Amino acid sequence: MPVILGLESSCDDTAAAVIEGTSGQATVLSSIVEGQTSLHADFGGVVPEIAARAHAERLDGCVEQALQAAGMTLADMDAIAVTAGPGLIGGVVSGVMCAKGLAIGGGRPLIGVNHLAGHALTPRLTDGVAYPFLMLLVSGGHCQFLIARGTDSFERLGGTIDDAPGEAFDKTAKLLGLPQPGGPSVEREARNGDPAGYDFPRPLMNRPGCDMSFSGLKTALLRARDDVVAAKSGLTSQDRADLCASFQSAVVDVLRAKTERALDQYMALAPDLPLLAVAGGVAANTPIRAALEALCAARGVAFTAPPLALCTDNAAMIAYAGLERFEAGLLDDYTLAARPRWPLDAQAAPMLGSGKKGAKA
Ligand code: KG4
Ligand code: ZN
Repeated sequence: MPVILGLESSCDDTAAAVIEGTSGQATVLSSIVEGQTSLHADFGGVVPEIAARAHAERLDGCVEQALQAAGMTLADMDAIAVTAGPGLIGGVVSGVMCAKGLAIGGGRPLIGVNHLAGHALTPRLTDGVAYPFLMLLVSGGHCQFLIARGTDSFERLGGTIDDAPGEAFDKTAKLLGLPQPGGPSVEREARNGDPAGYDFPRPLMNRPGCDMSFSGLKTALLRARDDVVAAKSGLTSQDRADLCASFQSAVVDVLRAKTERALDQYMALAPDLPLLAVAGGVAANTPIRAALEALCAARGVAFTAPPLALCTDNAAMIAYAGLERFEAGLLDDYTLAARPRWPLDAQAAPMLGSGKKGAKA
């Protein structure tokens, strides 16, 4: 069975992984992820130049560790798969150059993988789910609904037109003096808060389609915080909890309503085994997950979320997407280019804006 080495360096995680198997039935032999959180901690976001340098320095070490952990050498690899976009261009270039070096040096085929395809195909790696399935990709850098029809066939139903929800969680935490990453901190605070404490906007709720917007929510939270601070000369822990609970409840409502719309479009295809998969760091949020699970249960749709280590950025998903491309004969040559923007669905209207973690697609 084919063995694929995957490389990922499009944002702030340097990663390498080895997988073995066939399409829909693959095993992760090793998966190394080196995060860069501490490198960017002083800057309030990922600094592209720092990220790119760190990737360039660390990629070969990650590859070595991944091969070692799999008990293999480069000669055992059937192909080298690498994230060729979308993402922060310096990081993507680092990965593509490293992969080219390995492919040329080892005489192995090179496969450029779309990072979003890596996320989107993860449920086929973890659960072997059948096409077509509906995917909600929701993280610090991404937010979109996709119908995955095949290895190289995705339909984007809609997504955020500005910030990703994870970015809004992180910003909320920052505004309330809570630790980063913001998602888990805000979720924790929200447990003791009143979700109806503040009436935050649910942008684009009544607009048809699956597009979302989260930047207004962020601004509303900032205003609400300032109003409380002005009125009471500070925030009590209950104020903080209420702000978090109200913010989270707005995100849940938007995601629930838009997922309902996405399910309508997906179910119109009459899939044999209807399934919604979620991936990305925000999929770890318990109330968001519970809302989506309940929605699916009510409509007879299966629900799955890959384990968190494969939900967040990693190279196993890139190796897996590479495996499907390898089997389909979708190989690249050494002119493979790094692409900062690379929409999965070339037919869909381009999305606006660029998130904290780089270009959206
Ligand atoms: O997928 P990920 O690790 O990285 C990319 O953005 O590519 O996602 C990280 C994001 C962060 O914004 C983080 O705050 C958010 O996922 N996150 C959460 C939770 N855990 C992580 N958001 C809401 N609730 C959580 N429990
Ligand atoms: Zn990602």
